[in-house]
Amino acid sequence: MQKLWGGRFSKQTDTSAEDFTASVQFDYRLASYDIQGSIAHTRMLKKCEILTEREESLIIEGLNGIQQDIQTNNFLFDPQLEDVHMNIEHALIQRIGEVGKKLHTARSRNDQIALDTRLYLREELKQIITLNSSFQSAILSIAEKNIEIIMPGHTHLQHAEPVLFAHHIMAYFWMSERDRQRFIDCLKKINILPLGACALAGTSLPIDREYTANLLDFPGVTENSIDTVSDRDYILEFLSAASICMMHLSRLSEELIIWSTHEYRWVDIDEAFCTGSSIMPQKKNPDICELTRGKTGRVYGNLFNLLTLMKSLPLSYNRDMQEDKEPLFDTVDTLKQCLCIYSRLITSLKINAERMKLSIAMDSSWATEMANYLVRKGIPFRQAHHISGRIVAANRDVSEWTLQELQEFSELFENDIFDVIKPEYGINQKNSAGGTSSKQVKKQIEEAKKVFSDASDAEKRLPGA
Ligand code: ARG
Repeated sequence: MQKLWGGRFSKQTDTSAEDFTASVQFDYRLASYDIQGSIAHTRMLKKCEILTEREESLIIEGLNGIQQDIQTNNFLFDPQLEDVHMNIEHALIQRIGEVGKKLHTARSRNDQIALDTRLYLREELKQIITLNSSFQSAILSIAEKNIEIIMPGHTHLQHAEPVLFAHHIMAYFWMSERDRQRFIDCLKKINILPLGACALAGTSLPIDREYTANLLDFPGVTENSIDTVSDRDYILEFLSAASICMMHLSRLSEELIIWSTHEYRWVDIDEAFCTGSSIMPQKKNPDICELTRGKTGRVYGNLFNLLTLMKSLPLSYNRDMQEDKEPLFDTVDTLKQCLCIYSRLITSLKINAERMKLSIAMDSSWATEMANYLVRKGIPFRQAHHISGRIVAANRDVSEWTLQELQEFSELFENDIFDVIKPEYGINQKNSAGGTSSKQVKKQIEEAKKVFSDASDAEKRLPGA
């Protein structure tokens, strides 16, 4: 087959080289963005009098026809034509003849691919932000529904101090809020027109980049043509933001896996989101959580793939960069899937308040409040810490102590100590801003709702919307 770039070649490309260089088997996913970009480019060429009105309408009609064929599955992507750009351009020439050969004026595949991925990621990010918001809203609703439930808070995976379950789970809301902001930030960086950088140096033809930017809803154009065709930062930033988001989902997964063990039984993951065992009839496994934890590895891998790919590339475009597509697509697909299923899993999650309470009854997480009690009676904290520590070391259930026995550790103990060491007391005393008291957690939830509703308003005004 005669290549669109074949002028200087007298030999056919070896089939192994064709297979090796082809990317259409994955970059076909960019087809509709490629066409959208080509239509805007054509309109700009006409506006700049590089194309006539008739040429413009023939090309646009041709491109729309191709778009339709793709949508109705009547388009055959041919690996011999290398990539999505060549497949579409070739089809255009087949369809409308010679005039189709004018489309690629003042354009290179180097700026074209930068445009396609920006358009693609801009669209996908909007969906990701919406899915992220659904996840946040699932967290908010489970926090509100279980607002009074008490659980042991951990450090080092050891019982530390009792907290409200709502407080613990709302930690994920704020992580997710930062994820949302990171995605919005990515969107801002993506939202700039690369087209017009051409191969690397711009063009001697009289183009109007601002006009194309306007047509494609980009607020501006890139400043440096060499940077434009060399840059994959916007993909790297997205892969980083996606990795952090997956890390959050993975930590939540880990907690849910632990909490649903027989030893804990703190939560019950809905059967609709579990799977069974082919041999052990009793099994109900938290596979969604495990797979989310597992898929985090592949998203990190995608980030490291591209970081490594880019690290030694000289300016400007290098064909290595074609390898950015699969990690990008895989990350988008994986992240969307995980966010989507997690909203549903969290919404149907049941919390076992009794089991959570029971595990506090058998621990020593009252020790800090006992020390604080002595501090309020005038003892320096270090000494109070020591006294409380001695009582812990006696290794008795806290309910078994009498006042007299406690007074042997400190005369300052009075009857009210038995209230102070109740988990509810400690929780409600922790009324510092952002603390676990009921009052603070309710305030936090109100604040989260405010952030969330401001965010949904802002989502309607996202760039390129
Ligand atoms: N398919 C390439 C990519 O994904 C774009 C084409 C650039 N090719 C070239 N020979 N300059 O990066």
